[in-house]
Amino acid sequence: MITPASRFNLDNTIAVVTGASSGIGCHMATALAESGAKVVVLARREDTLNALCVDVKSTYPHAQIHSVTSDLLAVTDFDALAVELSEPFGAPTCLINAAGVNYREPVDDISVESWNQTLNLNLSVPFFLARALVSGMQNNGSIINIASLQSVRAFANSMPYGASKGGVAQLTRAMAEAWGPQGIRANAIAPGFFPTELTKAVFDNPEKAAANAAQTCLGRNGALDDLTGPMLFLCSAASAYVTGQVLYVDGGFTAR
Ligand SMILES: NC(=O)c1ccc[n+]([C@@H]2O[C@H](COP(=O)([O-])OP(=O)(O)OC[C@H]3O[C@@H](n4cnc5c(N)ncnc54)[C@H](OP(=O)(O)O)[C@@H]3O)[C@@H](O)[C@H]2O)c1
Repeated sequence: MITPASRFNLDNTIAVVTGASSGIGCHMATALAESGAKVVVLARREDTLNALCVDVKSTYPHAQIHSVTSDLLAVTDFDALAVELSEPFGAPTCLINAAGVNYREPVDDISVESWNQTLNLNLSVPFFLARALVSGMQNNGSIINIASLQSVRAFANSMPYGASKGGVAQLTRAMAEAWGPQGIRANAIAPGFFPTELTKAVFDNPEKAAANAAQTCLGRNGALDDLTGPMLFLCSAASAYVTGQVLYVDGGFTAR
């Protein structure tokens, strides 16, 4: 019987989470495994991913989680990567593109290399990885990209990052348009400021962190658990008619 709560059930979900060795990807992978999804985690740091799998399995004995180590900037064959990601549990039904970088360089210091790396990892990889996985999703797929306040706002020392995240918002709509007829949904979560390795420079500066908190309607920066509910909603059948959307989980930062 379908009940309101059962719409959030993830028992048949096989999720791939990139960028799962730290921060937002790590938190989302853990929450998915705790919620009953089978989870494949991907990043470059093998030891960190292995430690995550051990930790999740010891905390949630029912959890099914497996790691794949990969440098996404070095991948030349995304179809082969999709095959590797399908080996532990079968074809993934959910992809969370959480791997990302922001080198925070002043405009005059941005090199061609750092520009290309940022655009490739934050924008191109989510497309190529999703395209390699959609054929296996079989009328039941959910892609979640991670957008940003910088999808719609400009911040100092972040030009390539902002360009990539503006692109992620549009990529999300284009994915929804392209793959909706196959029953695949694509949405983005746009977090406000959350404390992770990526935002260490911001949170190490109490004045900056306080100014960002003051800009929100709720008067505080994000805690990783603030992302759990929105992520579970977008992964599950609870959001069956939601696609092509960017959900700002930012305490109202962009509302002001
Ligand atoms: N934190 C925030 O406030 C915030 C706000 C808005 C948007 N976001 C977005 O959220 C996503 C996650 O960010 P985060 O804050 O969680 O940052 P984070 O803690 O620095 O995590 C970034 C992840 O990306 C992985 N990664 C980096 N380069 C990679 C590569 N070449 N191949 C494979 N994986 C790679 C890292 O793992 P390895 O180093 O092990 O490879 C790490 O797991 C990013 O897209 C970011 O733009 C974050």
